[in-house]
Amino acid sequence: MALLEVKQHSLFFHGDERTFNILDRVSFHVEKGEILGIVGESGCGKSMLAGSIMGLYPANVARKEGSILYEGKDLLAMSAKQRERYRGEHVSMIFQNPNTSLNPVITIGKQMIDIISEHKRMSKKDAKNLAIKWLGEVGLAQAEDIFASYPHQLSGGMKQRVVIAMALSCDAELIVADEPTTALDVTTQFQILRLIKRLQKEYRVSIVIVTHNIGVAGYLCDRIMVMYAGQVIEVGPTEQILRNPVHSYTKGLLKCLPGQGKNIDELYTIPGTVPSPLDFPSGCRYSSRCQLAQPHCKEHAPQLEQLVVGIYTACFYPEKECEA
Ligand SMILES: Nc1ncnc2c1ncn2[C@@H]1O[C@H](COP(=O)(O)OP(=O)(O)OP(=O)(O)O)[C@@H](O)[C@H]1O
Ligand SMILES: [Mg+2]
Repeated sequence: MALLEVKQHSLFFHGDERTFNILDRVSFHVEKGEILGIVGESGCGKSMLAGSIMGLYPANVARKEGSILYEGKDLLAMSAKQRERYRGEHVSMIFQNPNTSLNPVITIGKQMIDIISEHKRMSKKDAKNLAIKWLGEVGLAQAEDIFASYPHQLSGGMKQRVVIAMALSCDAELIVADEPTTALDVTTQFQILRLIKRLQKEYRVSIVIVTHNIGVAGYLCDRIMVMYAGQVIEVGPTEQILRNPVHSYTKGLLKCLPGQGKNIDELYTIPGTVPSPLDFPSGCRYSSRCQLAQPHCKEHAPQLEQLVVGIYTACFYPEKECEA
């Protein structure tokens, strides 16, 4: 059984006058010990999906359809209390800005002891030792000094390491990371990615990482899921997605990656923009930007289907070659 299985999940937000469809029949799974990357341009619904997996949207703000099964139990059918327990015991979220997860007026050490005590029955002294062990484990030298620091005394990269240490100290089985390195400089970004990769190997934790950068996903992930306008349009093993992408949107994203020696003027961008949930087209949502689109694509919506084992795509013409 997969650790997480999302089936035909749709999310609707209640606006003032109407309801917006944010996610449309999203289906995928995460195996135990696997890193899944969710990629797509800004506004594709990646963060909303991450929030859904965390069980963050109560019924008064959103309508949810389908199922989100964690170890076979449907998150969408749980009571608020059960969802809270799921968040406390099994999953942990890492945000783009580490300050979202850290309280500025409490020392790192006290925050860690508080969170560890919520999850484990142990003495304060043991909780302190465990916190310091994890601060060291995520590559923070002088863990004792970090333990006594306030968040503002640390750099962005150090704070993101602290947040990772917090998630692991509570034995999270699934970590959902939404753009965890986007706010960091390139060198620090790479160090944090390397850290995530090492920790995942050592502790067999499952990770869902949201990133708009398909290159980051390529480095880190076992499989990549590409989203467009609230839908999944391609899923497959990382090697396959990078070397032999099927959907023309995935090909476009790969072409956008900066190569060595390219200057800004030479960078490719996919013409057009992601449609908004206010006016999703009725056919294929990518058709207005797709080089391969046929009249058929504008009228009918392709469903996500298995092309070969492990590779899924939502496209009527997946075999066609195109420039982008
Ligand atoms: N509270 C809300 N009510 C209505 N629509 C919303 C709300 N929050 C987000 N949206 C819309 O949902 C869509 C998906 O947003 P989301 O934040 O998930 O995108 P994203 O893929 O994470 O983008 P980015 O890469 O910029 O973070 C967007 O079109 C956004 O405008
Ligand atoms: Mg986002």
